[in-house]
Amino acid sequence: KREFTGKSQQLFFTHVLVGKKIQYLVLVGLGKGADKKKITIEQYRRAVARAVKEALKLKRETVVMQLPAASLFGVDVAYVAQKTVEIAMMSAYHFDDFITDASRKETVLAELTLCVDTKNKKAATDGAQVGKVIGQAVNRARHWIDLPPSVLTPAFFAGKAQQLAKEHDVTFKMFDEKQINEMGMGGLAGVSRGSDEDCRLVILEYKAKRKTAPTIAFVGKGITFDSGGLSIKPADYMEDMKEDMAGAAAIIATVHALSHLKPDVNVIGLAPIAENLPSGKALKPGDVVRFYNGKTAEVKNTDAEGRLILADALSYAVKHYKLDAIIDIATLTGSCAHALGPFYSGLMSQHDTLVETIQESSDRSGDAVWRLPMSDDYKVAIRSEVADLCNIGSRKYKAGAITAAHFLQNFVENVPWAHLDIAGTAFDVPAIPYYRPGATGAGIRLLIDIAM
Ligand code: BES
Ligand code: MN
Ligand code: ZN
Repeated sequence: KREFTGKSQQLFFTHVLVGKKIQYLVLVGLGKGADKKKITIEQYRRAVARAVKEALKLKRETVVMQLPAASLFGVDVAYVAQKTVEIAMMSAYHFDDFITDASRKETVLAELTLCVDTKNKKAATDGAQVGKVIGQAVNRARHWIDLPPSVLTPAFFAGKAQQLAKEHDVTFKMFDEKQINEMGMGGLAGVSRGSDEDCRLVILEYKAKRKTAPTIAFVGKGITFDSGGLSIKPADYMEDMKEDMAGAAAIIATVHALSHLKPDVNVIGLAPIAENLPSGKALKPGDVVRFYNGKTAEVKNTDAEGRLILADALSYAVKHYKLDAIIDIATLTGSCAHALGPFYSGLMSQHDTLVETIQESSDRSGDAVWRLPMSDDYKVAIRSEVADLCNIGSRKYKAGAITAAHFLQNFVENVPWAHLDIAGTAFDVPAIPYYRPGATGAGIRLLIDIAM
């Protein structure tokens, strides 16, 4: 009592005798709500993370948790159970495929038991099931992102998507580089041209039972490694560029999770996947590419490649499906990472009601987003003298995250569209206890919530 006051994130552990066995008991402080407000669910998420990390440090593979009263946070029991499982799984994630030293292998969380009132058992069990599906989706994507870029090539990554689709009733379609060229996807093919690895366009379809259900498309950037191409990055900017497929990982993991959660909405996931490398065949600054929808862009900087591959995927999506909304997710700009840092993904859209929906899902799911303005004033920044568009914004306009969003908006016709820039949030987020160095799985909890 003296040592543990329940202050936010305070940690206390001791041994207790249960029958004849010694067990560890970990207490984590939830703190108080600010100004008589409820304790936020994020405070709870971080407390769960601290508890699980502590248990794993003690090499415990089984954890039993007492669920706090849902009313503390102003939510229901199912939701607390869902979040508890989600966060416990995220906290236990580690990437040690290539660590051979047995003493550095981390403990696997093998079993999690939640203690609840008998009257809450059904709600808690249902919530926990949902949490497990989401936790698995997040960790699956993180593993793909953390894999070395010469392991997770476009063909390998597309193969993973195919394997998952087969497991469940998700329709899988794929185009290879030859088909992508033939279809006139000059952006995706152009970016891939410098690499020896062939590009792919992966399309996943989840169908709702109801015939009249609305349809939403998720499009994710899948650059398996971004060297910058001929506009090559300095070494320290290139270090983590295996993360540049985090958007594609998010949508593939999301569609798979949704095939288990079965929302009443059709979901199309599109992932343009390529590697951005320099070579004698590579796209050059000054080149002009023609996209699937017929528009053209001057490529002034081959490091602004994300918008080139997304342009083709967005064009394909709006042409081949009758969409009620389309959302893309991409590690698109350093500019966004600088503006918002690692704690908020950038949200850009001119569609206020779609923004509202996404904002609500963000609050509920824990994937934080912050809206950046997208007024028409920024449009002229991406004008080109020789083509319809230029792939970088003119220097005077700065705001690189926003001008990139304007570029993408040229490829969605009249479909309500929003863009999520996860360049700052996808990898190496500090100080949040349910993350660790490496991939975070940013956006997956959000996209799943939007569909649900
Ligand atoms: N993949 C990068 C953006 C990025 C930066 C992601 C840092 C994650 C962390 C993207 O392809 C890129 O290189 N963007 C350029 C665009 C510029 C050339 C207009 C950037 O942000 O510098
Ligand atoms: Mn780039
Ligand atoms: Zn990139």
